[in-house]
Amino acid sequence: MTDQCSQTEGEKIVTKFKEQEQSFDEFDEAINPPPEVTEFDHVVDEALSRRGFLGGVMAFGAGSFVLGTSVFGAGEAAAQNSRLGFKQVAANTLDDITLPDGYSSHVVIRWGDPMFSGVAEFDHATRGNGESQAGAYGDNIDGMALFELGDASVLVNNNEYTNRKIIWGNRPEGKSETDDDVLKGMMAHGVSVIEIAKGDNGWALVKDSKYNRRITPQTEMEITGPAAGHALMQTEADPAGKLTKGTWNNCGNGRTPWGTYLACEENFNGYFSSSNPDIERTDAQKRYGVNVEDWGYGWAQIDDRFDIAKHPNESNRAGWVVEIDPSDPTSTPKKRTALGRFKHENAEVVVNGDGRIVVYMGDDERGEFLYRFISDGVYAEGADNSDLLAEGTLYAAKFHPDGTGQWLALTPETTGMASAAEVVINARTAGSKVGATTMDRPEWVAANPKKAEIYCALTNNKNRAIKPNAGGDPTPAMGPNPRAENHYGQIVRWWPSGGNHTSDSFTWDLFALAGNPTVHQDAYGGSVNINEGNMFNSPDGLFFDTKGLLWIQTDGNYSNEEDFAGHGNNQMLVGDPATGEIKRFLVGPKECEVTGAAMSSDGKTLFVGIQHPGERGDSHWPEGGDSVPRSAVIAVTRDDGGQLG
Ligand code: FEO
Ligand code: CA
Ligand code: CA
Repeated sequence: MTDQCSQTEGEKIVTKFKEQEQSFDEFDEAINPPPEVTEFDHVVDEALSRRGFLGGVMAFGAGSFVLGTSVFGAGEAAAQNSRLGFKQVAANTLDDITLPDGYSSHVVIRWGDPMFSGVAEFDHATRGNGESQAGAYGDNIDGMALFELGDASVLVNNNEYTNRKIIWGNRPEGKSETDDDVLKGMMAHGVSVIEIAKGDNGWALVKDSKYNRRITPQTEMEITGPAAGHALMQTEADPAGKLTKGTWNNCGNGRTPWGTYLACEENFNGYFSSSNPDIERTDAQKRYGVNVEDWGYGWAQIDDRFDIAKHPNESNRAGWVVEIDPSDPTSTPKKRTALGRFKHENAEVVVNGDGRIVVYMGDDERGEFLYRFISDGVYAEGADNSDLLAEGTLYAAKFHPDGTGQWLALTPETTGMASAAEVVINARTAGSKVGATTMDRPEWVAANPKKAEIYCALTNNKNRAIKPNAGGDPTPAMGPNPRAENHYGQIVRWWPSGGNHTSDSFTWDLFALAGNPTVHQDAYGGSVNINEGNMFNSPDGLFFDTKGLLWIQTDGNYSNEEDFAGHGNNQMLVGDPATGEIKRFLVGPKECEVTGAAMSSDGKTLFVGIQHPGERGDSHWPEGGDSVPRSAVIAVTRDDGGQLG
C-alpha cells in the first residue's frame, strides 16, 4: 500500500482519484490546475459590478439576467393545461427504478451479458476476463440510439468507461493485478451494437444477430477531414496519419438522417501516461489534460501507444466524433475531425432548411465552449450523404448578457492559427482566440423537432467566477452562466435568427436554473419552475420526443443532504418548452447516473441507460442480494400499451 504521508501533493491527488474518491472532473482539475491570471479577480469584479451583483448572489433576484418568459408562467395555469400526462414521482434514495403509476420497466441488457454464443455468462465472482469482455456488452452505458432496420431493432450504445473498483472487485485491492485485468477494463469500453426483439418477457438481446458488434479501443478507424494526414496526427504505427485504433470514453451520441450513429469521445485524456515522469508537456497537452499519470486504467502497461513519452501524437487521435454505420458490422468507423477535438458530450444533428447539416456540440469541462459545425455539402434523401461530416466550418458560441449571441467561425484567418488542421486539433485554443464564452460544462444539446430552438444542459461549475479555464480565459458570473460557484446547473436555450440554423446570430434565455428552494431563497433556490416537488441538480442528458417535450437526465450529487436535501438519487424529468413546466418521471437506483435514451418509433417504449449504480459501493442493482451492481439499459412502457410522455 502507498504511504500517503510521504507523497507529494501531486501524488496525493492521483492516489485520491485512483481510490475513486474523486470524479473525473475533480481529478482532471486537480492534476491540471488552471494558470494564475493576475487580472482575473478584477475582471470578475467588473462583471459583477456592471450587473448590479455587488451584493453577491443575494442581489441576483433583482439582476437583469435572462430567464425565459415562459418559465415565469409555470404555475397553476401551466399545471391545468399540462401536456405531461403522468403523476410526478417523489424523490427517493431507493436501490430501484421508480416510475409513475401506470408505467413499468424491465432490464434489456447489462454490462457483461454475452452477445455471442460461446462467450461465458457474466460471472459475479470474477467479473469476466479480457476475452469474455470483448464478446460481451460493455460497461457504463451512456449515449444510445435505436435504428429500425427492416424488421430488426438495432440498439447502439456507448460504453463510456468502467468502474475500476467494480470490474476489478475480484482483486483484494480493487485494482488490476495482471495484464489481462487491464485488458478486461479496456474491452469494457467502446460501443456495443445489438439487435433487440420484443418477446413475451419484453425487450431482450438477439444473441448472434448479424448486427451484433463490439467496437473497442482496438477497432481500426479511418481519420477523415482537415486533420487527416497532418503531422500532428502521424505516429510510428501510422506514418500517414490516416488510420487509428479505437474509441473510448464515449459519452453522449448523435444520429444522422442517413442512418449512422455518432459516438462522442469525452475524457479521452485520462488513459494516457508517460514512462518518463520528467517529460515536458506541450501547451496543448496541458489544455486537454493529457498527463504523465493516467486515471488508473493502466493501458500503457499493455499498449505503448498510450505512453506519451514514446508516442506523443497518439493523444491527438482521440477527442473526436466517430461515425459508425450500424447496418454494416464490417464497416470501418470514421473519426470526423471537421467537428473539432475536445471533450465531446454529444452531437445534435439538424438538417437546415437549405439542406446543410448543422451539428451542435458541447465541450464538457469547466469553462470550455459550445460549438456548431456546418457542412459544406447538402443533404438529399436517397443521395450518397455518407461524407457530409467530412468537410465544413466549425464555430464557437459567444453569449451576450442582453439575450443575444453570435457564432464565431474558427478558421486560420479568425484565429491566426497555421492551418485548418491545427484549428480542429486544438479547437479549444481556437475558441479562446476568438473570445468564445466560457460555459458551465456544456453537456447534451437537444434540438426541438417542432421549431428552430436548441437546448443545452450546463451541468455545474464550482469554478464559476472563482478560476479561469485551463486556457486562462476568465469565467465571470454572467449571461447563461449567472451564478458563482454553480453547483446546481442550468439549461440554456437559443433561437437562431430567422429560424435558420446557419445564421451567425441568435437570441437566448434560460429555460431552468436548477436549485433547492427549500434551502435557498436566492438564485440558488432555482428558477420559478423549480419547486420542492421537482427539484434536481446537474442536468446532463437532454433529448426531445416527437411531441416536442424535453426529457432531462441528471448526473449530480445524490447525497440527499444539505444543499442537495430532497433531491434524492439521480433522475429523469420531462419539461414542456412552451410553459416551462417540469415533472419528475423516473428515479434511478443508488449511486447511479441516468444517461442516454431512445424512443421506439411508435412512441411506446423508452429505452433508458442506468450508468454506474453503486459507484461508491452501495448498490446491488439490478439483481439484488449480494450481486455485483451492473450498468444496464431498461425499457420503460405504459401498462395500458399507450405512448409515453
Ligand atoms: Fe460523460 Fe459530460 O458526461
Ligand atoms: Ca454526460
Ligand atoms: Ca455529467
